[in-house]
Amino acid sequence: MNAREIRVGRRLRYLEAEPPASVRARGTLVLVHAFPLNARMWEPQQSLADGGWRVLAPQLRGFDGGANDTPVATMDDYAGDLVDLLDGLHVKDAVLGGLSMGGYVTLALVRLAPRYVRGLVLADTRPQADTPEGLDGRRRMLKRLDDGGPAAVADDMLPNLLGATTRAGRPEVAARVRELALANPPEAIAGAIAAMMARPDSTALLATVHCPTLVVVGDEDTVTPPSVSEDLRARIAGAELAVIRGAGHLSNLEQPALFNQALAGFLGHRV
Ligand code: MLT
Repeated sequence: MNAREIRVGRRLRYLEAEPPASVRARGTLVLVHAFPLNARMWEPQQSLADGGWRVLAPQLRGFDGGANDTPVATMDDYAGDLVDLLDGLHVKDAVLGGLSMGGYVTLALVRLAPRYVRGLVLADTRPQADTPEGLDGRRRMLKRLDDGGPAAVADDMLPNLLGATTRAGRPEVAARVRELALANPPEAIAGAIAAMMARPDSTALLATVHCPTLVVVGDEDTVTPPSVSEDLRARIAGAELAVIRGAGHLSNLEQPALFNQALAGFLGHRV
């Protein structure tokens, strides 16, 4: 994927994979990254461009070396950046996809600017806001970040992010996730934690979604387990659920071929 940026008062950075000229253009697919990773986590999905999709993977504010980006306060700031990016690139609407925190951003965009949403992909995510225990965990993470920087956050999170199959047999995936996390300045990580802590509950919003929707989850995801995804699917009219075997929370990185197959099937037949 190629690294690009546009300026709309501030800098908006993103990765892009364009469809080959020989293939009929199908539209734009936006993939929003998880925490504490960055847009490069979507590199295994660049092959979806071969099916005619222009694939855009935005770097959320400050991530992946964006130390000079404006600090973020809320999920709505991230969603506003996506709208500015789509406007700046003259994209009228897109299939919006997000994994985990990327799903929170996607749901914020559905709430703020539904006319941009042609289809939805909600991977390893949940509509609920943080619980009181979850908020305590976030406060502990902010302290860990203060004390040990991004490496401490990555080390704490890694065992939960990856499924048992990946942990047992694919050390290169763990190394990649750590590398992606360490590329992020502490300010970006702190901003995302604050934005996640302040995010509203989006459960009621789901009944207003009427576009084609794919929910994806790794069968070994313990952060947002399959039961959460089944509940999410049931709340969106006509939504489909794809369970990715042998994957944990980072299903697109852990089982890219199965993830891409599910996504390509959805894009080909439902959108
Ligand atoms: C993520 O993968 O984006 C995080 O697990 C989201 C969260 O901590 O709520």
